[in-house]
Amino acid sequence: MQDQTAHSIKLQRYYKYHSTIYDATRWSFLFGRQQFLSSLPELMSQPRILEIGCGTGNNLQLLEYFYPDASITGVDLSEDMLEKASRKVGNSKELNLMQFRYGSEGPDWDPFDLVVLSYSLTMIGENIDTILQHVHEDLNPNGYIAVIDFHDTPFKWFRRWMWHNHVSMDGTILPMLKKYFTEEKVSLNKAYFGFWKYFTFLGKRS
Ligand SMILES: C[S@@+](CC[C@H](N)C(=O)[O-])C[C@H]1O[C@@H](n2cnc3c(N)ncnc32)[C@H](O)[C@@H]1O
Repeated sequence: MQDQTAHSIKLQRYYKYHSTIYDATRWSFLFGRQQFLSSLPELMSQPRILEIGCGTGNNLQLLEYFYPDASITGVDLSEDMLEKASRKVGNSKELNLMQFRYGSEGPDWDPFDLVVLSYSLTMIGENIDTILQHVHEDLNPNGYIAVIDFHDTPFKWFRRWMWHNHVSMDGTILPMLKKYFTEEKVSLNKAYFGFWKYFTFLGKRS
């Protein structure tokens, strides 16, 4: 586990520049997001949805589209990423953006029907057990967790390069998700013919 304040400062610095090129570049390696979100289950009317690490807000836009009557909250620790998100989706009662580091800080909010983590768990740096326990507490008893993220790579040098970019690609997250949540649907997918794998996980609070 890393020193969280230091990690958070590093990420905020990293995204000061990367927020400016994020949307133009990430389509080429953050695969599967739109398809995954479009496959999520129907929710009760006026659901409460949380995206942790919402970045520049692409998924928030999609969630708004797929769940038009939802109340959606996007949190991110990077002010620069949130600024981009706010230009896309605004900041209203129905779509609320909040800046803080999920895991160690956070409001005492009402539970959510769906929590989405898209390419953020592998960057979060904290003890993943702690994060997943928080998600568990933040979900309604029948709530869903939907995660899409990097899984692993056969290339050590690439894992190191990703680590240098604050991403941990060690294949440990999927088994932990299965420990905390009841699995509904899982997929493991190859990117660039197996250069790395990414996974999707849909689970229920167990
Ligand atoms: C790779 S981006 C993914 C953004 C978006 N979910 C997407 O799919 O495009 C990871 C985001 O997670 C945020 N993040 C990392 N750790 C976080 C934490 N503990 N709390 C809130 N946001 C965090 C980063 O600032 C960054 O914007």
